Amino acid sequence: MSVLIKGGRVVTATDTTAADVLVEGERISLIGADLAARLDVEADRVIDASGKYVLPGAIDPHTHLDMPFGGTTTIDDVESGQRAAARGGTTCHVDFCIQAPGTSFSDALADWKSKAAGKQVIDMGYHIAVTDLKAGGSLEELASLPDEGVTSYKLFMAYKGALMVDDETLFKTMQVAAETGALVMVHAENGDAIDVLVKQALADGHTEPAWHARTRPPETEGEATNRAIQLARVAGCPLYVVHVSCRESVEPIRRAREAGWDVHGETCTQYFFVDETFLERPDFEGAKFVYTPPPRARPNQDVLWNAVRTDVLSAISTDHCAFTWGEQKAMGRDDFSKIPNGGPGLENRLQMIHHFGVGEGRIGLNRMVELLCTNPAKLFGLYPRKGTIAAGCDADLVIFDPEKRHTITAANQQSKTDYNLYEGTEVVGDVETVLLRGNVIVDGGEVVAQPGIGQFVRRARFGEQLATAAVTA
Ligand code: URP
Ligand code: ZN
Ligand code: ZN
Repeated sequence: MSVLIKGGRVVTATDTTAADVLVEGERISLIGADLAARLDVEADRVIDASGKYVLPGAIDPHTHLDMPFGGTTTIDDVESGQRAAARGGTTCHVDFCIQAPGTSFSDALADWKSKAAGKQVIDMGYHIAVTDLKAGGSLEELASLPDEGVTSYKLFMAYKGALMVDDETLFKTMQVAAETGALVMVHAENGDAIDVLVKQALADGHTEPAWHARTRPPETEGEATNRAIQLARVAGCPLYVVHVSCRESVEPIRRAREAGWDVHGETCTQYFFVDETFLERPDFEGAKFVYTPPPRARPNQDVLWNAVRTDVLSAISTDHCAFTWGEQKAMGRDDFSKIPNGGPGLENRLQMIHHFGVGEGRIGLNRMVELLCTNPAKLFGLYPRKGTIAAGCDADLVIFDPEKRHTITAANQQSKTDYNLYEGTEVVGDVETVLLRGNVIVDGGEVVAQPGIGQFVRRARFGEQLATAAVTA
């Protein structure tokens, strides 16, 4: 099967070029001006991309599909979550595989892979979330995971009594990463201090969703971010701080990067648009915005835009961790600490960042591609097979119409949740067609992918590259 994408503007992290793209089988074989006329190329399918962008498939390095959490399980399984991703122009994601306490890492991976079997509509990899090095997984087993293409270790410094690890576990994992070439990822909040604040708030009779943010002040994020940075420096491993939400955690990352330390950070779409006042919406509507770290005071939004513009933060993920508002979030109607933490977002990242980032002049088009595609690919061992457009790469491509208007609403989303964080927002610019390794999975804005087409991707170690066809052929 071959596909010729004609007349579009091919956008990468560095260039925007008027060019045709020829896809043969699963890979990009040729890129150049006017291929059809000049080289007499004939393809099985021709897609007219005039007036459109041709982007690399976006990569989301932070998702939670079919994950038990907060007394329930995220509503999007691999199929519905990946359909949402595909509709939003994301062709690959890296999901968190959580080690259940007392079990091994290989049990966790087997469990996560069985949940994905036959359901995948895009490609995926896994980060291993280390929760227990005493009764469950061993350091030796952890060290063996990069050989299987699982090249990132995640640790939660919050969620006391659930996923949280102590500093000993954090530091020992960092030491293993320094040996094996894995990337350490941290959810950076001081879980002990937050636990005290939550208990005190509840004892004082505060049960509403707004107390989710009031008991997780930005300083608890700043402290944990700094602690993780300093410990990673001692251990000698690279560090990636997930879902950075505020100035207090941006600052230590900025300082570390200025000093040349191997420290990286992401923020998520929602932190640019949702602020702490959303949690105060009446009739329990605030519960829709209970995710962690919480929505922050509004001035942090400019801090985050500046951080992604100036390369203090390197990626924008979604932290898609969807629960229904009607049933699952309602578990915390009388106690904010029982509201499952997490929100949806996989479907709308590209639309929102294109409209409010590129369209409103906060970041350039090439920087958007870098933040959503190229940097996640580089940081998580998928580059250059994914994350850019070049001969030999996987033909993961998005044909994006920068003029098309779209109103975001839960009424027509792929995610199984019953709300959308950006309900009613009108964006200019939307995904039209998506190819996954040469297969059309979104056509005219409709998801047409057959479950099973997606694959597990073995990722390269941090700083190493995944071979492309051009290199291996
Ligand atoms: O609230 C969130 N973010 N839920 C998902 C788990 C996590 O902390 O990433
Ligand atoms: Zn987290
Ligand atoms: Zn998360």
